[in-house]
Amino acid sequence: MNALVTGGAGFIGSHIVERLLAEGHRVRVLDDFSTGKRENLPDHPNLEVVRGGVEDYATIEACVESIDWIFHEAAIASVPKTIEAPLASQRINYGGTLNLLEAARHHGAPRLVFAASAAAYGDLPGLPKGEASAVCPLSPYAVDKVASEHALAAYHHLHGMHTVSLRYFNVFGPRQDPSSPYSGVISIFVDHLLAGTTPTVLGDGEQTRDFVYVADVVEANLRAITTDAAAGGRFNVGTGHAVTLNELLTALYRLRGREPHPQHGPARAGDIRHSCANIARAREVLGWRPATALVEGLQRLVSSLEG
Ligand SMILES: NC(=O)c1ccc[n+]([C@@H]2O[C@H](COP(=O)([O-])OP(=O)(O)OC[C@H]3O[C@@H](n4cnc5c(N)ncnc54)[C@H](O)[C@@H]3O)[C@@H](O)[C@H]2O)c1
Repeated sequence: MNALVTGGAGFIGSHIVERLLAEGHRVRVLDDFSTGKRENLPDHPNLEVVRGGVEDYATIEACVESIDWIFHEAAIASVPKTIEAPLASQRINYGGTLNLLEAARHHGAPRLVFAASAAAYGDLPGLPKGEASAVCPLSPYAVDKVASEHALAAYHHLHGMHTVSLRYFNVFGPRQDPSSPYSGVISIFVDHLLAGTTPTVLGDGEQTRDFVYVADVVEANLRAITTDAAAGGRFNVGTGHAVTLNELLTALYRLRGREPHPQHGPARAGDIRHSCANIARAREVLGWRPATALVEGLQRLVSSLEG
């Protein structure tokens, strides 16, 4: 197949690219390199890299030419950045999705899988979250992710296109950028582990997250693009297990035979207290289940950073 991966030089996108190349597909990456890096991608005869923005329709139109599969990962992936710049978020995080849908509609209707987010659920009570749970987007980031999901579903409904939204929970793994001030909690904790220091845990550390390993997210993408029954749908991509930040830190430090003894700082304003996915729908329709246990994923992440 010919695949387009937007945001393919980023953390999750580069893992999708790697898997597609390994399976013999031809891959085009579209990335503006705002957070993505060329070194996240291999030099490969079946890989073409285009530098450009998803907000530019002409660029998108040129990129979807002769494409069978689109994996749409490009976004301003940081919630705080979208709070600072909501118009840019709308242009990129929602407008980029609409550009892709529209260009796809006019150029052979390739299948499209979209990186949606558990941020859609906001902080409403009731766990675990199923896809039928109410949404409550609390940031421009979440609003634009939810709007994009609706656009995908509408294009399926109106034009019969194969579109699928995958609501990622907290994804972790190699190539997640620990130097970014917006990075996920795991990469910050791992950074401290490797530096021999101990992180400050914001709040009491009893807040929970559902951490899913990046290779499992890639597998969900492949199943979503190839499974006919998934068309028009939205699926949670998590593990169904909630882990407290204190448990996460302890599990991580024990990989190196250490006990963390962290300081606790003030809780971050606006943080969601608890998050956990119900993954029954992905199991049923996609035949997908996460294959990597948290400790195994943490071990792989730490090993990748130790070189
Ligand atoms: N990491 C997570 O836990 C998580 C959770 C939920 C959803 N997501 C979504 O998954 C996708 C990938 O996230 P990630 O963690 O790999 O982040 P990332 O920042 O590593 O990847 C995003 C990629 O998109 C590129 N990009 C940004 N703006 C662009 C634009 N205007 N045009 C073209 N390329 C652009 C960046 O350069 C980067 O390579 C994003 O859509 C993100 O919102 C991630």
